[in-house]
Amino acid sequence: MKKVHIKSFGCQMNVYDGQRMADILGEQGFEETATPEGADLILLNTCHIRDRAVQKVYTELGKLRDIKNSQKAEGQDTRIIVAGCVAQAEGAEIQRRQPAVDLVVGPQAYHRLPELLEQARARRVVDTDLPIDDKFGHLPAPRPQAIRQRGISAFVTVQEGCDKFCAFCVVPYTRGAEFSRPVAQIMAEIERLAASGVQDVTLIGQNVNAYHGEGPDGRIWGLARLMHRVAEVPGIARIRYTTSHPRDMDDDLIAAHRDLPQVMPFLHLPVQAGSDRILAAMNRKHSAEDYRRLIDRIRQARPDIALSSDFIVGFPGETDADFEDTIRLVDEIGFASSYSFKYSPRPGTPAAELDDAVPAAVMDERLHRLQARIEHHRQAFNHAMVGRTVDVLLERAGRHPGQLAGKSPYLQAVQIETETNQIGELVQVVIERAGSNSLFGRKAEATGAAAGKPSSEDIAA
Ligand code: 5AD
Ligand code: SF4
Repeated sequence: MKKVHIKSFGCQMNVYDGQRMADILGEQGFEETATPEGADLILLNTCHIRDRAVQKVYTELGKLRDIKNSQKAEGQDTRIIVAGCVAQAEGAEIQRRQPAVDLVVGPQAYHRLPELLEQARARRVVDTDLPIDDKFGHLPAPRPQAIRQRGISAFVTVQEGCDKFCAFCVVPYTRGAEFSRPVAQIMAEIERLAASGVQDVTLIGQNVNAYHGEGPDGRIWGLARLMHRVAEVPGIARIRYTTSHPRDMDDDLIAAHRDLPQVMPFLHLPVQAGSDRILAAMNRKHSAEDYRRLIDRIRQARPDIALSSDFIVGFPGETDADFEDTIRLVDEIGFASSYSFKYSPRPGTPAAELDDAVPAAVMDERLHRLQARIEHHRQAFNHAMVGRTVDVLLERAGRHPGQLAGKSPYLQAVQIETETNQIGELVQVVIERAGSNSLFGRKAEATGAAAGKPSSEDIAA
């Protein structure tokens, strides 16, 4: 069998796309391999969100060229594909900077991989169309064996692209306009995953809660309605969704956190900044106060919900006072976890044209302070779990023999010592200790929970 090595950078959608490309190439007789050495085909699935992510791709491509050359000296042909958002944004520029690349394929064109690979035998090929035709309708269904290999958690893309146009963000240009998959297509994929043992699904989209897909009744369904349907699939014990925009958290979606036990009490809801002046300059379409009120409403529906956010520091024109507003918001909300980034100007975005850049040293200092606050709240959240009993879905072997690892409803990594439990079981765990990245616990004495049935602990605050 021919071998393909796939390396994905960036977000969860790239992980999902990487798996779909593995499925397509699987049908072409390619088997996945964990290392680039020895592979016939090497696929980099790239991220364009910040400049550093792009630099990483070019560094990686330099290494792959060397592998390609040394394999050629031994008589093995190696072809290099660049996919994902750098492919979309840079197109033929990639092959100019790194001529070892055979094929550049954008995120909306990868269902055509077999024919593009064929064309790339004769010449270098670039396909970065953003067509309206349905890529998803052309993807092969993953084989049960491939699903089982990937484990009991799976991502499912339900929505792609973004119409929000935050001033700093490349996504509306690299992934294109919002597109929602039809409900029936999504359900077929989830049912297939569940039939092969998947219990935990994360519905993904760049702006997932703007989902508006065609329902089986011919009407447009929102994300909440879709999740009600997903919750009916036998075997699906846990549902999450990411990434959401505050403007699209509608009442039905908030109510789903109260009404559906399968919807996990965790929500990634980026706010980006705490200053209204900066939020307006970012074109976020919400104020800090809007966000606070929204969080209050979500907590009324689901008091124990764990929240996470993304933050950008050093957006052009950000003053010390603006930054203090961000710190205040972080301290008020008390996020369970968060990502934070230094602003990175992206060519083609409106913010790249702005003056008033924040000096690098100031950005560093702000990022450092913000990350310290985020870490403080993360630790506080984790330590507050000690002594509580939570449901843990066991997903894999732990770090040491005799340990199994899984996730809490709040997306925390949990390790337990056990001889008997099997991967795929939902067990109740008494949390005994909070480490810096994982919680540690033991199985509760009386385990009432059966796989597929979240216990009342899931809902208790
Ligand atoms: N600079 C820094 N961070 C960015 N993000 C998106 N674009 C930029 C940029 N130009 C961050 C946002 C977003 C996350 C995925 O990446 O916080 O939510
Ligand atoms: Fe980018 Fe804003 Fe769309 Fe998120 S909502 S993908 S940050 S433009």
